[in-house]
Amino acid sequence: MSKNAEALAAQIKAVAGDAPVRLGLILGSGLGHIADTVDGTAIPYGDLPGFPHAGVSGHNPNLVIGDLEGVRVAVFGGRSHYYEHGKPDAMRLPLEVLRALGAEMMIATNAAGSMRHDMPTGSIMCLSDHINFSGLNPLIGEPTDARFVPMMDAYDPQMRAGLRAAAKATDTDMTDGVYAWYSGPSFETPAEIKAIAMLGADAVGMSAVPEVILARFLGLRAAAISTITNMAAGMSDEAISHNHTKAMAPIGAAKFETVLRQFLRNLS
Ligand code: HPA
Repeated sequence: MSKNAEALAAQIKAVAGDAPVRLGLILGSGLGHIADTVDGTAIPYGDLPGFPHAGVSGHNPNLVIGDLEGVRVAVFGGRSHYYEHGKPDAMRLPLEVLRALGAEMMIATNAAGSMRHDMPTGSIMCLSDHINFSGLNPLIGEPTDARFVPMMDAYDPQMRAGLRAAAKATDTDMTDGVYAWYSGPSFETPAEIKAIAMLGADAVGMSAVPEVILARFLGLRAAAISTITNMAAGMSDEAISHNHTKAMAPIGAAKFETVLRQFLRNLS
């Protein structure tokens, strides 16, 4: 753990209290409002040196520490994407801080395009695995042998079972699927989507994967959920744009919130 992360964790505990955090939640496009429902302390990223600026509209750049359904959580209201600055490890410090706050688990959420007609706009997908189509890696430059992170069961089977049980208990449709990380910020071409689908991906997006690699590196159990905001390029006549992503995200976000709250109630 870096000294910087330890110092930030101490700074956060001084305002939010010492009780250990159990779970970190990274909120993607259209999911920021969940942070407002946490009973706790909000700290603007700007007060946490080294935290990303999270400069994408639709994100809410605060770290909120507190109680959600009886579980002490750290909610990252915004994330840094590779396409903002070309740094795949931009979420390393926030995740190190999460670990230093005591967390064992992380759930990353994101908006994604679907390659499956049985998983239309408004669906949610629980990641079973990923394809790193970007070829980038947040651990490039890490000097220790810890960089050779195994990625079998990167999406924690027990957390996934818990999320599936929560979806079932709340009668919420949730599909399992493989997510492909595409760097962005331009959307994919129809030919790229055809290629990614042939490789075995069910959905495509511009985040989550570097965070899951970092989480595994740091010893956090990881899960991730995509809210499907559109059919991927060439899959339908639906227009693809960031505005469309933001407009459609609330449909899946409501389903995700239902599943998350039940998952947390079962943990508490
Ligand atoms: N592609 C990549 N990222 C996305 C998409 C998409 O179609 N929709 C939402 N995020």
